[in-house]
Amino acid sequence: LVIRAERPQDRAAAVEVERLAFWHGRDGSPADDMRVIVEALRDEDGSFAFVAQAGDRIIGHVQFSRGWIGSDPVVTLGPVGVLPEHQGRGIGSALIRAGLDEASRRGELAAILLGAPQYYMRFGFRPGSDLGLQNPATGVTATGFEILEEHFMILCLAADSARFARLSGDVRWHPSLK
Ligand SMILES: CC(C)(COP(=O)(O)OP(=O)(O)OC[C@H]1O[C@@H](n2cnc3c(N)ncnc32)[C@H](O)[C@@H]1OP(=O)(O)O)[C@@H](O)C(=O)NCCC(=O)NCCS
Repeated sequence: LVIRAERPQDRAAAVEVERLAFWHGRDGSPADDMRVIVEALRDEDGSFAFVAQAGDRIIGHVQFSRGWIGSDPVVTLGPVGVLPEHQGRGIGSALIRAGLDEASRRGELAAILLGAPQYYMRFGFRPGSDLGLQNPATGVTATGFEILEEHFMILCLAADSARFARLSGDVRWHPSLK
């Protein structure tokens, strides 16, 4: 298994992984939404992605893109997906760690996401509400998934934690992420 930066020739397989991951990840919901989101994000300024490759097959993918807190740029994590038959073996975690390392190398101040707290806490993410930040996307999605305040999470990537602690204002990300 190799975790590495996404290359142009991985792109079709990477969106297929996201489609298949979410078909199984969310009971009965249409899976195409993640493909649409990744295609909207991947060519934007500040976007980058990692893939997991087993043999000649792409089996996992994580997308990162530009977000903002007030006027400060941050990096947004998501979507992340692993093919259903390969889930639960640490591949998602390895992809996320590789991407967060890259974001740190790029000098990003923080990473934000919408996700299950019990999964993302292991990477050091904590509720955005700890910093007084508000989830910009609470409510029920078109696919029937309920987004709660606690699903908005943040991780400090900066050596300068004082700057991180001062983050404030509205949280924004690419409109395709809603
Ligand atoms: C989420 C996902 C990317 C994780 O990748 P993975 O390779 O399966 O995960 P890992 O092997 O690194 O970690 C497994 C852990 O993740 C947990 N986990 C997986 N999906 C989860 C979810 N939606 N909510 C909470 N925990 C989850 C497992 O219960 C397991 O927990 P444990 O270590 O305490 O036993 C993958 O399961 C997936 O593609 N799921 C469907 C799509 C999805 O829901 N993406 C994330 C949206 S926030």
